[in-house]
Amino acid sequence: MRKSSSNSPGGSLKKAERFSSSGFILAAIGSSVGLGNMWKFPYITGEHGGAAFFLLFIVCLIAVGLPVLLAEMTIGRGGRGNAATSLFNLTGNKYWKWFGALSVLTAFLIMSYYAVVAGWTFQYTLDSLTGGLSHKGMDYEAHFNDFAGGLMPIFWQAAVMLISGYVVARGISGGIEKFNKILIPGFLIILLILMVRSLTLPGASAGVEFFLKPDFAKLDSESVLVALGHAFFSLSLGMGCMLTYGSYVKKEQSLGKATIAIGIGDLGYAFIAGLIIFPTVFSYGLQPDKGVGLAFMALPAAFSQMPFGAFFGGLFFILLAIAALTSAVSILEVPVAFAMTQWKWSRRKAAAIVASVCFVLGIPAALSVTGSLSGFLIFGKTVFDWFDFSTAYLLMPIGGLVVTLFTGYAWKRAGEEAGLTGFWYKAWMVTLRYVAPLLILVVLLYSLFVKPV
Ligand code: PFF
Repeated sequence: MRKSSSNSPGGSLKKAERFSSSGFILAAIGSSVGLGNMWKFPYITGEHGGAAFFLLFIVCLIAVGLPVLLAEMTIGRGGRGNAATSLFNLTGNKYWKWFGALSVLTAFLIMSYYAVVAGWTFQYTLDSLTGGLSHKGMDYEAHFNDFAGGLMPIFWQAAVMLISGYVVARGISGGIEKFNKILIPGFLIILLILMVRSLTLPGASAGVEFFLKPDFAKLDSESVLVALGHAFFSLSLGMGCMLTYGSYVKKEQSLGKATIAIGIGDLGYAFIAGLIIFPTVFSYGLQPDKGVGLAFMALPAAFSQMPFGAFFGGLFFILLAIAALTSAVSILEVPVAFAMTQWKWSRRKAAAIVASVCFVLGIPAALSVTGSLSGFLIFGKTVFDWFDFSTAYLLMPIGGLVVTLFTGYAWKRAGEEAGLTGFWYKAWMVTLRYVAPLLILVVLLYSLFVKPV
């Protein structure tokens, strides 16, 4: 532990803090591949027409997600600051800095409740491996409600904060990069083992069909908004995360190539996750439920009936835990980088304080799922739902707008930093100036007024 002081004694953002080329790609894939890929993507794909939606998602990812991803990384590397100061460094305009600071707040709030869900995966890993999830006739819904209503989630949330805080405190190359370099390849191996297992289950094809059979009749205008919103969430956009990671990228690295690699990584992991989840659930005659229900109720029920189910179930939750942790680390880095430059805190101090405050803030979120605060509603929503709603549906789209407008209009040398010229530069600008802001605005208005969640 002591050794880390040699490479990150702290102070302001130091020049020496840089990713290696492969380290950056892995860390960015680690950020983008998270709980969103593991259950949200497969489920919304099944619900919105299978392969038809998958194609639509790919279009949104390529046409809007990747250009915005490139913009975030470009601002970070060009400005060499945090999510707020990078915008100021590039224009000298303090208003942009405050717009950027909004995404620091977003990251701070997301970290507070993301750690709660990440913590659940720890308990479920342990329960699976020790056979605690495979009792005959077990009621998985009641089990989840009991667990989430108790105090254990707070313990696990603290564990997530400790691990993420420790990794972030160790700095970019010695902490975040190393962490992802170990976990992301391990993640792929587990993913492939589970994919082979699920695709060879009897009746697996029904699950593959649900996930991938194109049904264009299920596509409507809402599908486009869902696909677009998820492309943003999945690529970790709109909250300064890729911007902050971008500030640690070397000048020699091609941001264009990195964008493509991250896009393929994010999509590939989500696709394989779908090939694990649906064949497993369908093979045991269960219904794919949304979100929490799918990951923490339907899947444990399926694993409990499978030969060596404790082992495969354990692997699945380890997978979820890794996905959540590598994303959590990237989220925490946003406010930590901000505190380091804004208040001149050392990296260790910033990581310790930010993680502690997020932990305290996350406690009411943890208790409001099924616990003592679940009856405490503010305008009909629990505290947990408020964290989710205010970040995913309000602050993240606003953060996305800030990035597109900044790169499209305010910063004149973005093309140079991104290494784009000619046709690609023009296409990028058209997306950032017109297509992306318009679509983000539609998503924002839709989720606010048409279908408030
Ligand atoms: N991209 C992550 C997922 O798909 O679960 C979630 C996320 C991570 C969102 C980091 C935003 C972020 F900055």
